[in-house]
Amino acid sequence: MPVKSTNIVPKNSDVKSHYRVRHMTHEDLPQLMEIRRDLKVHDVKSCIDSWLTVDPQGINVVASKEGEIVGACCFIRNSEDLYFGGLYCIRPKFQGSGLGIQVFNACMEHIGPRNAAINAVPGKMELYRDKSGFPIVETEFMCQKNYTSELVDSNNLSSINLQGVTIESVQECHLPALFSYDFSIVGYDRKLVLALNCLEDNSRTFVAVRNGSCVGFGTIKLTCMGAGRVGPLYADDTAIAEALLKTLIMSMPNFTGFVMNTVSNNVAARRLLKKLGVPLKEELTRMYRKEKLSADTKKIFALYDLNLAPF
Ligand SMILES: CC(C)(COP(=O)(O)OP(=O)(O)OC[C@H]1O[C@@H](n2cnc3c(N)ncnc32)[C@H](O)[C@@H]1OP(=O)(O)O)[C@@H](O)C(=O)NCCC(=O)NCCS
Repeated sequence: MPVKSTNIVPKNSDVKSHYRVRHMTHEDLPQLMEIRRDLKVHDVKSCIDSWLTVDPQGINVVASKEGEIVGACCFIRNSEDLYFGGLYCIRPKFQGSGLGIQVFNACMEHIGPRNAAINAVPGKMELYRDKSGFPIVETEFMCQKNYTSELVDSNNLSSINLQGVTIESVQECHLPALFSYDFSIVGYDRKLVLALNCLEDNSRTFVAVRNGSCVGFGTIKLTCMGAGRVGPLYADDTAIAEALLKTLIMSMPNFTGFVMNTVSNNVAARRLLKKLGVPLKEELTRMYRKEKLSADTKKIFALYDLNLAPF
């Protein structure tokens, strides 16, 4: 049962002894989502849940003995040699007491000597580059947060010029082709998390199919703030991405606001957002621990999740 946050804040010196870092469990998710909602971040509960299933030691929380959670951080295993960091937060009234660095370091232990990537919010790039062991800064692209609180109208998008492509609601029979398509874009196997992605509550996934092959796929999910968030959205070309995006928006009519996070070097994705009237809100810097990652960003029209996966 979730423990309600109390208003009794221990004195600064007591904070570190009252709260301990431990692995997050699925039962902790409601409290984490409350913290993320307070930060006004468009995270998706089911998405974090799926990635926690993929890597049960990948998320750490700062928790009291009574079960109150006041912060978190993750470095989730994406592949044998690749971890992705995010969800780094401490409730405002507990900040500056050393809890943040404690949970961050616990996550770094989980990575061991392997490569890892993060997205730094504005103002934090130098900290991660010079003090946290992420010396490699991406120069090809920035990660872009795009958001509107307005209603988006799918009529502003087109689904013509598809040249033999059909857009189909995902079924089990699509999965092998979807897995290989994803592999061709990101360069490593994500079968388990993609299978979970297609089963998440409050979410819809569609596949673009030409002659029996997958030429794109996309998912829309409900965020903890009640918005629709598209991601991932990968496609061979803009016409396919546009048709997928139109179908995704039409498939989930009851959301308030719209989120789609993109890579800055995919200019076609920007054009789609312009058609929908979704402005750029913030740019994050991609940073790496050991080496840069490459992916086919021309085909990445929406990133999977800014806190859990690189693409
Ligand atoms: C960022 C955040 C999690 C830090 O938590 P915190 O508990 O306030 O941080 P701490 O008290 O542990 O910081 C202690 C010291 O470690 C440093 N530190 C914190 N995290 C660090 C990290 N990941 N790497 C290196 N140094 C770090 C701090 O700058 C501070 O240094 P100082 O004493 O020289 O000022 C917190 O401020 C927060 O929730 N901010 C809002 C969300 C956010 O911006 N998240 C980061 C997204 S990239």
